[in-house]
Amino acid sequence: MKLVTNARLAGRDGLHDIEIDGDRFGRVAPARGPAGDVPAGGLTRDVPADAADVLVDAAGGLVSPPFVEPHVHLDTTLTAGEPRWNASGSLWEGIAVWSERKAALTRDDVVSRATEVLRWYAANGVLHVRSHVDVTDPGLVALDAMLEVRERVSDVIGLQLVAFPQEGICSFENGPELLEEAARRGVDAVGAIPHFEDTREDGVRSLEIAFDVAQRYGLLLDAHCDEIDDEQSRFVEVLATLARRGGLRDRATASHTTAMGSYNGAYSYKLQRILARSGINLVCNPLANLCLQGRFDAYPKRRGLTQVKEMLAAGVNVAFGHDDVMDPWFPLGTASSLQVALVGVAAAQLTGAAEIDEAFAMVTDRAARVLGLGDGYGIAPGRPANLVVLPASSPYDAVRRQTRPSHVVARGRIVAETPPAVTRLTWPGRDPEDVDFVRTSDR
Ligand code: FE2
Repeated sequence: MKLVTNARLAGRDGLHDIEIDGDRFGRVAPARGPAGDVPAGGLTRDVPADAADVLVDAAGGLVSPPFVEPHVHLDTTLTAGEPRWNASGSLWEGIAVWSERKAALTRDDVVSRATEVLRWYAANGVLHVRSHVDVTDPGLVALDAMLEVRERVSDVIGLQLVAFPQEGICSFENGPELLEEAARRGVDAVGAIPHFEDTREDGVRSLEIAFDVAQRYGLLLDAHCDEIDDEQSRFVEVLATLARRGGLRDRATASHTTAMGSYNGAYSYKLQRILARSGINLVCNPLANLCLQGRFDAYPKRRGLTQVKEMLAAGVNVAFGHDDVMDPWFPLGTASSLQVALVGVAAAQLTGAAEIDEAFAMVTDRAARVLGLGDGYGIAPGRPANLVVLPASSPYDAVRRQTRPSHVVARGRIVAETPPAVTRLTWPGRDPEDVDFVRTSDR
């Protein structure tokens, strides 16, 4: 039995000790005092006799379940500039550039780039990742490579794969057959891209096909939905209604939903009810979509984002995703969920203190709901022993100061350690001192 000691847990007073038994959590109880006193309710049995039993002393830092990436494209990652840069910066040129790069795709190419970014995710404490994989490729090269990667990383990262028809289901030759073949080969979820299809009718039909495949193979569904600044792109109502009527409900997700940024008030109000009733999840990708949307606008220029604040208030589960790490759609990124949360706070105007905590939940608990992790996530007895230790006093503090996890624990083992960053400041009239960006009145 090992212990994570002196852990600060969101929503609970005081510090706690967390037992880890093999690859599972044991009990969680009030921490022993500095002198070894055992408080009421503390771990009076199996208390460690020496420091050898302490896996990590969190020293009062925030201990959280790991970060969860609900939306990334690992088959396209690290290809920014290949074979050319996306000069206009639009989603559409990004798809055209990727189509050129896709012609040169090999198994080794996909495996090495995806694995490199998954290592970055693990280093940042992201231990669950949902990746879309382009299946509009007759050879399904990327899909087979990613199925192999999913297996290889499974000791550290739980990777979900979505069969993503980047160039359409109805509008791409053999699109339905390729989607079905991807389901047969073992993806976790079925995707769609209704706003990209040639006609509105094709868009609706593509969602019906995706739901049919998901239901026949017992899979989750996650569609790129309304990723366009067209107020008439309203496929999310179709997705939600299919999810409700077919019973998929919270096993279905609409990603991007940027057209929401252009919907009028009357339709937005109607949509809140449709989405809340359906139980579906939404994933907003603020880094990519702040860059991609509004490219056809003169000023005033629209943000082109999911109505995050309004949908949360309506009771819809919304999570934040990265979408792209250095690819034709977004040239930056280090696979950091805290960076996504910070940009999400600004983009969705979640600036109340409770809203900043909520942004943290959108890259942890809420994202876990998108992936349907259930009892496979969270710090509680019997659950997989996955956690991050953040040198921060609260989720708000972690988002603000962008604190890298000091420790990442996966399946009961430390897989990443980050020494604290120390800045030494020499200021006129004062001795040199460390600056950690904590407000004096908060100490
Ligand atoms: Fe995406």
